[in-house]
Amino acid sequence: MPDVGGADKQGLRGFLRMVETRFPDEIVRIPDRVDSRFAPTAVVFELEKAGRSPVVVFENIDGKPTPLVTNVAANRKLLAACLDVSPADLPTAFRERAMKYLPCETVESAPWDEVVLEGDDVDLTKLPIPLQFTVDAAPYITAGQITARDPETGVDTTGFHRLMLKGKNRLGVSLHSRRRMWEFHRRAEARGQSLPAAIVIGIHPLHYMGSMTYAYPPQVRKFEIIGGLFGEPYRLARCGVADLEVPAGAEIVIEGEILAGVHEPEGPFGEFTGYASYRSTQNVFVAHRVRMRRDAMFHSVTAGMAKDHILISCVTREGEILNALKRNLPNVTAVHVPHSTCGAFVAIVAMKKTAEGEPQMAVMATLGTELYTKYVIVVDDDVDVFDINDVFWAIATRVRAEKDIFFVPGAKGAILDPSSDPNDFTLTKMGVDATRPSGRDFAERLVISDEERARARSILAAAGVSL
Ligand SMILES: Cc1cc2nc3c(=O)[nH]c(=O)nc-3n(C[C@H](O)[C@H](O)[C@H](O)COP(=O)(O)O)c2cc1C
Repeated sequence: MPDVGGADKQGLRGFLRMVETRFPDEIVRIPDRVDSRFAPTAVVFELEKAGRSPVVVFENIDGKPTPLVTNVAANRKLLAACLDVSPADLPTAFRERAMKYLPCETVESAPWDEVVLEGDDVDLTKLPIPLQFTVDAAPYITAGQITARDPETGVDTTGFHRLMLKGKNRLGVSLHSRRRMWEFHRRAEARGQSLPAAIVIGIHPLHYMGSMTYAYPPQVRKFEIIGGLFGEPYRLARCGVADLEVPAGAEIVIEGEILAGVHEPEGPFGEFTGYASYRSTQNVFVAHRVRMRRDAMFHSVTAGMAKDHILISCVTREGEILNALKRNLPNVTAVHVPHSTCGAFVAIVAMKKTAEGEPQMAVMATLGTELYTKYVIVVDDDVDVFDINDVFWAIATRVRAEKDIFFVPGAKGAILDPSSDPNDFTLTKMGVDATRPSGRDFAERLVISDEERARARSILAAAGVSL
């Protein structure tokens, strides 16, 4: 890999260099030829089962010249290192920096201009696109950041959207999150126009993280949020579709358009819910041009419930919910969106309650912020939101179901949530107030002081038991 600096520092290469230099045990290189069908996904899941989350580089996929890089975002330690903080400080650092919008820097040229393929030369089947699960309808580009501009305001956005390989220049795409890209496409379609768009492959995890934000002012560019995460302007370069700008440090840029008024079967695909997803907005992306580095790497997100697919969603949702809550409830102390709830469907909020009714406010604000979250559990700040056993204990001992559990029927739910209504995707959301009643005595929690715990550890250590 050539030396990284400038735009490369903000790209996948910069991240890999950081991991190789500072965390050499957290990167695995596989030089042998590996089949693109199922093997890369199975390798990542086996590592995860063994409690390991390294970045994995497959140097030879199907004998193709482009290496496949995956599991880039599965490791809290590495994500925290990207922000130069400890893993425990990751959600807070993310939420604070994601609000420090920085104007972007537009540079004249980018390394992805080294190879430019147009017309018949565009052939996406040449990329090492893996087939991840037996249910998947086709190989999928899972780390394609699609960027496009709002046809009304010109403000751009960037985000991952799964892309099903349908042919040399044709990709099925699902915009089921129904956030900005879905809205921009809807606005273009209302004018009878396709949406000019570019797919960017090979980005830094801070771009991945920033792209998952949603609760920010409409005039702000996501690229400015990503700059905030980097702590310096994000370097972009103009590509060749409409007047779109894309990250200069990327590996591959696919220029094209999301067609207006065209819907084709897309999916099934092994989704973050742990299920095969047959639900899709069934849009179509047609590629007109590919630009790539001569030694490009292909980034793929390992799908299903892999950490690579979910961990950043946990962190960014925790950050966005904290941001929303802290505006009005400064006594909120922590938020956890557990991986086991697909990094989406359950949020646990801790607060130092000062009055009855505050947990209900926290539930409503959370549900109003995060479309995917459907159950919000509020606990006191003596409960560790990151310890699910502690949270269950609070539910078991502090909830009176007839008054502490409440429902919001008919709320907008996630299309991919298998429990949402198959026709309109609504569902019933739920709040659980698992805090102690305020203003009166409640049972006293048993505690062992830090001092006693330290003493216990030294007694055990003296007996030859190390913990
Ligand atoms: C790996 C990964 C894959 C994703 N795939 C999709 C997808 O296929 N469709 C979709 O609408 N959202 C998908 N998302 C969620 C969006 O990227 C996310 O909601 C983003 O904020 C949307 O950006 P936008 O506001 O520009 O639409 C995915 C997220 C991740 C992390």
